Amino acid sequence: MNNIAVIGSGTMGNGIAHVFAQHGYNVSLIDISEDSLKKALATIDKNLARQVEKGAISAEIKQKAIANISTSTSIKDGIANADLIVEAATESIDLKLKIFKEMDEAAKSTAILSTNTSSISITKIASVTKRPEKVIGMHFMNPVPVMKLIEVIRGYSTSNETTESIMALSKKLEKIPVEANDYPGFVANRILMPMINEAIYSLYEGVAGVSEIDTVMKLGMAHPMGPLQLADFIGLDVCLSILRVLHDGFGNPKYAPCPLLINMVQAGHKGVKSGSGFYQYKAGSKELAVAERFSK
Ligand code: CAA
Repeated sequence: MNNIAVIGSGTMGNGIAHVFAQHGYNVSLIDISEDSLKKALATIDKNLARQVEKGAISAEIKQKAIANISTSTSIKDGIANADLIVEAATESIDLKLKIFKEMDEAAKSTAILSTNTSSISITKIASVTKRPEKVIGMHFMNPVPVMKLIEVIRGYSTSNETTESIMALSKKLEKIPVEANDYPGFVANRILMPMINEAIYSLYEGVAGVSEIDTVMKLGMAHPMGPLQLADFIGLDVCLSILRVLHDGFGNPKYAPCPLLINMVQAGHKGVKSGSGFYQYKAGSKELAVAERFSK
């Protein structure tokens, strides 16, 4: 497996392209927007430069990685030679089903079709293709070049052969793959999102403030980020949509999203990407200021 196509050049897509290219694979990075592709290449360059500065990789590996990436605005052309396609488009079921139909028609018959979805059913996605045994979830974590985990999700019809080849490939990327079955939220988000939701409920009910809640979890549980900062980092709209998948999928009220989260998303406060969530973000700064609404 040498030729990899990545569909979607946003935060996850460019991170996935970065990791494959760094490990010597030919990467075709695909997006409908030429502008997004340019931004993605600039981000990959910046993140590789950071790894060179830290001594994690050599300048030569960086150069080779950049040379390994080509871009395309057409799915059909961009995936024609791919042995594996990783779809990392926006988290919308309708969009993913449309892309998978197109991928199935244009990809080589031997190609594996994977998705980086954080919560949409792999079985459902596979059902619109003629090769459900070759459809699998490859759930990378953000930031992709740093986080070691790949959650490998088997749909109902995913074959052992497909699973084994994705587990082996993940190890070649120096990641740790973990196999999971296809139920709402898989493992990562079934556990992470209720924790984030509970942190938001704690704020909503006045148990403690934003920095107090995050400090308890950072210092008390050794989490690198508190759950409210992590929610901002993931995107509050993404957290809400995953909670809705859990709520609908299990029909259990324990997954009901906190009304404060719903309001914040409706008001456009989506976290880092919108400049404001539980914290306020200045472009290019790592400094955190509790958003005005939550300040004492
Ligand atoms: N590319 C390459 N390297 C990067 C990078 C990137 N995009 N971002 C950070 N790094 C490197 C830095 O160079 C640094 O390297 P060294 O340790 O060698 O010095 C290291 O990562 C730590 O970075 P920083 O010093 O800049 O910042 P930090 O110490 O605050 O760590 C963090 C940042 C890694 C993001 C850390 O805060 C963290 O682990 N946060 C939690 C992340 C998390 O939980 N991710 C999962 C989210 S859930 C998800 O993705 C899935 C989903 O479905 C919702």
